[in-house]
Amino acid sequence: MRIDIISVVPKLMESFFGHSILKRGQEAGHAEVVLHDLRDYTTTKSRQVDDYAFGGGAGMVMLAEPIAKCIRQLQSEREYDEVIYMTPDGETFNQQTANSLSLGGNLIFLCGHYKGVDQRVRDMFITKEISIGDYVLSGGELAAAVCADAIIRLIPGVLNDETSALTDSFQDNLLAPPVYTRPAEFEGNKIPEVLLSGHEAKINEWRFEQSIERTKIRRPDLLGKTGLF
Ligand code: 6GU
Repeated sequence: MRIDIISVVPKLMESFFGHSILKRGQEAGHAEVVLHDLRDYTTTKSRQVDDYAFGGGAGMVMLAEPIAKCIRQLQSEREYDEVIYMTPDGETFNQQTANSLSLGGNLIFLCGHYKGVDQRVRDMFITKEISIGDYVLSGGELAAAVCADAIIRLIPGVLNDETSALTDSFQDNLLAPPVYTRPAEFEGNKIPEVLLSGHEAKINEWRFEQSIERTKIRRPDLLGKTGLF
């Protein structure tokens, strides 16, 4: 899978994608992330990427032309499953969206800035609009990084232990159970006995019960989606 991210501040994301799981995923050839500076697609000497809004009002609007040029360039080189615009008025990102985007092919992420992009870009090129929650960020970069991280880690082979993505919080609409590592007693606090039993079925049962308990207390809104109640 290849993920192309279009931004006016690509540097914001360079270090993020150059580290840890995402770096490994890229080095192993599972996912390639390519950052694009929108200014490289401008045609004016001033390398302008925004302008005043027609009709007036505060805030600048991102120009259609450089965005169109960049997207068309990419689409001429390879097929893309989705051209995603990161915007607070998009549909809220969740694990289901991450799952389905991780199964598909190449993706383009367009990061919004200022007052957003010219509506014609959305009408002409965008196939999906995503928000990461009900709050406003100063740009779509962090949001695109969040989505790309959630997607890339689901690609088979990216995580060391392939089963570990399956037991994530949210994967079955349940929160993950508590986890412990050595020592078995820390400053007088012991770990639950069952984890030392070596009895796999019992351990799984305990983890499942803990997941349900945690979800009931912290995210009762999720319980209805589990199909268990
Ligand atoms: Cl995708 N962009 C911006 N600017 N703010 C956001 C967001 C996106 N998602 C939540 N807040």
